[in-house]
Amino acid sequence: MTQKQLFGVVGNPVTHSLSPRIHQFWYEELELPASYQALDLVSDTVCEDIRALARAGYSGLNVTLPHKIPAFEAASSLSDAAERIGAVNTLSRPDPDHRVWSGDNTDWTGFLWSLDRFTKHRPEKTVLIGAGGAARAVAYALASRSFTAVLVNRTVEKSIQMAEQIALDISGVHALEDLNAACTNADLIINTISLGHSGGSLSLPPTDHGMFLDISYGQAADLTLQSARSNGWQTEDGLPMLIGQAADAFEIWFGIEPDREAALRAAREWLNP
Ligand code: ATR
Repeated sequence: MTQKQLFGVVGNPVTHSLSPRIHQFWYEELELPASYQALDLVSDTVCEDIRALARAGYSGLNVTLPHKIPAFEAASSLSDAAERIGAVNTLSRPDPDHRVWSGDNTDWTGFLWSLDRFTKHRPEKTVLIGAGGAARAVAYALASRSFTAVLVNRTVEKSIQMAEQIALDISGVHALEDLNAACTNADLIINTISLGHSGGSLSLPPTDHGMFLDISYGQAADLTLQSARSNGWQTEDGLPMLIGQAADAFEIWFGIEPDREAALRAAREWLNP
């Protein structure tokens, strides 16, 4: 019998992660001898714990909050994107005999897949809300397409720093209180801050053509997406980005392109049975 390859997602908390279901969906579809677990890492030695998982024989890991920086530190080598974004969401062992991690970031390519499904038009005015880890991956994706963006964040200095580090071309920076002014006449708004968990939401100015992509999904995004739609925005949630980053990680591990649309349909069902 072929021995199963081991994969997993590390985070804290991680029990609600959809990653195990997404990857197992593809393993079943493609009849791959692999298993994928959610691994809650809570200790203050997360970086060492992640290295230990390579020594324990794991073939690949996804990394979710708050461990994307410890994963960056745990990797023995890094892709250019992971280095520039400063965070790792995918770990692999390019040499199966060598039990060390190579760090990559597929959040930015997952975002581009979701963006391309959402709109075929190149926006003239793009607004990026947030300057945390998730925003950095989106900023890297926008820079890869040579987009110019207006940045909005509670802490303006963090946006400026992010743009400098990622080399994203910007045409303005605003505080979150000035969101309405920043978003006037926007063609595309990308929100990376999650206010939904604390019952908050964003409120956007009216539009007759604008597209709004929130990288959260489920309840965390509901209020903001509803409010955006009522003001005329065409909306998309973060589920396609989640599937996109998972598919790109899957490709790094197996060299096979999995069925993204099938997994996305399944994930929508899991969230709204
Ligand atoms: P993530 O990896 O999800 O992006 P993060 O790196 O902690 O998480 O970044 C959180 C983002 O949400 C930041 O843009 C943060 O704004 P600051 O840069 O000013 O800290 C934003 N954020 C978090 N809580 C917020 C709140 N209550 N109001 C407004 N912005 C908030």
